Amino acid sequence: MYVDSLPSFLNDVDVLAIVCYQWGDTGKGKVIDFFSDWADVFARGTGGPNAGHTLTVNGKKIITHQIPSGILRDKERKTNIMGSGMVIDLESSLKEMSELREAGCTFNGLRISDRAQLILPYHKVRDRLQSSMGSGEIGTTGRGIGPAYADKIMRLGPTVGDLKDKSRFVKMLEKVQQQYPGTIFNIEEVIEQQSRLYEEIKDLVCDTDKILQESLKEGARVLLEGAQGLLLSVDYGTYPYCTSSDPSIYGLTRGVGLTPDQVDLTLGIVKFPFMTRVGNGPFPTEFGGMKSESYCAEGNGNAHKQSIENAEFGSRADEMLRSDDEFERGRALRLIADEYGATTRRPRRIGRTDLVALKYAIGVNGPNLVLTKPDCTSELEEIELGVGYRTTSGETITEITHGRDITYGLEGVYERLPWNIGDISRCERVEDLPENMKSAMGYVASRCKTNIKMVSVGPEAKQTIIN
Ligand code: IMP
Ligand code: MG
Repeated sequence: MYVDSLPSFLNDVDVLAIVCYQWGDTGKGKVIDFFSDWADVFARGTGGPNAGHTLTVNGKKIITHQIPSGILRDKERKTNIMGSGMVIDLESSLKEMSELREAGCTFNGLRISDRAQLILPYHKVRDRLQSSMGSGEIGTTGRGIGPAYADKIMRLGPTVGDLKDKSRFVKMLEKVQQQYPGTIFNIEEVIEQQSRLYEEIKDLVCDTDKILQESLKEGARVLLEGAQGLLLSVDYGTYPYCTSSDPSIYGLTRGVGLTPDQVDLTLGIVKFPFMTRVGNGPFPTEFGGMKSESYCAEGNGNAHKQSIENAEFGSRADEMLRSDDEFERGRALRLIADEYGATTRRPRRIGRTDLVALKYAIGVNGPNLVLTKPDCTSELEEIELGVGYRTTSGETITEITHGRDITYGLEGVYERLPWNIGDISRCERVEDLPENMKSAMGYVASRCKTNIKMVSVGPEAKQTIIN
């Protein structure tokens, strides 16, 4: 099996972090699955049910949201941690567990941090209220993420561990009601519901930072599972069009009680040669620009776009990739690459891989990359890579110092490269890859001063090439 060929770059690695360098949905789940023989402990440190990690196991699709992807290896006595930096919705966690249980999963090694913030029903109400008012243009997942993190910063948010002590929990909810008199909720109802949910998971709740540190002392191999992506970071991303956590290596390590120094290798997942974004916000290399953004946001991110696009293009999608209209090319690529949200089914916006943003992400998180999904572009004759942004005054920018430099009004400047890679899904070594693909990889490596460590050539864990 592929484990025979585990990369030599793991030789001295005890802590491996997998993070996305774009706007999420780059295939972290698949890469995590690739390393799941190697790892003993899997830990999530940021985000919550806004995440959706798609794994393909024996041809079957499994989507995890809050539970670490390593849960599929629970039977092998592996530990899965939901860390203190997360925001956790107990109701949907239990729903996710019951779906995973149906797929044959067990939860013996699952541990939930007592310090993780709770997402309570009123957080979801506030998320929706906010979305229908001023900041509605962000297009959140509506899972209560922003309000739960906001309450943490405001020192008002109950944690999972607070459910141990009912009277303390009541006091916290009373404070919330004073702070937000406009949000109506019944304290008794919330307590009744949350206590009932807590009963079902209370044996899993503990100080997970301690477990992680002790495991490391005992020589365990730890895989840190990032969520979302660097460009969605509230600290590094396209603020305010971002999520409310920091999915960089800094936020991820803080969210599991480690420091970045303790990470031996960070792998940055990069979709290539196209990239995607769900929800609103600037995306200079998008196919069809603003037209695509509003089309994808229509009807609040119309969950039926997939069937519409399927009915319209059917088997003609390959042909549409050669359309003169880049908006149509984007729609065709979305259908072929199945780019519809794992959590919301919203259509993902499609664009060219942006090397300006990638260079910035490398500066924050480090130079080691995994390229994903090139296999979905086998029908493209040539590719365009974003190498600059043209400003409204006609200037060209090739470097940025912060995600907030990516603004509306910038237009992508592209380098065109020949592609025509055909079917790469059975390639096993870099040498097997088509010449055009190898030269495009060389182009990225030299332009971004980076190391391409791995290339994914299909959805299954074993369809992975080590460079
Ligand atoms: P929130 O995280 O629900 O507050 O949403 C804020 C922004 O982040 C929206 O544009 C979402 O579409 C985006 N977002 C949140 N989680 C994910 C994810 O897992 N993948 C991709 N986009 C996400
Ligand atoms: Mg996702």
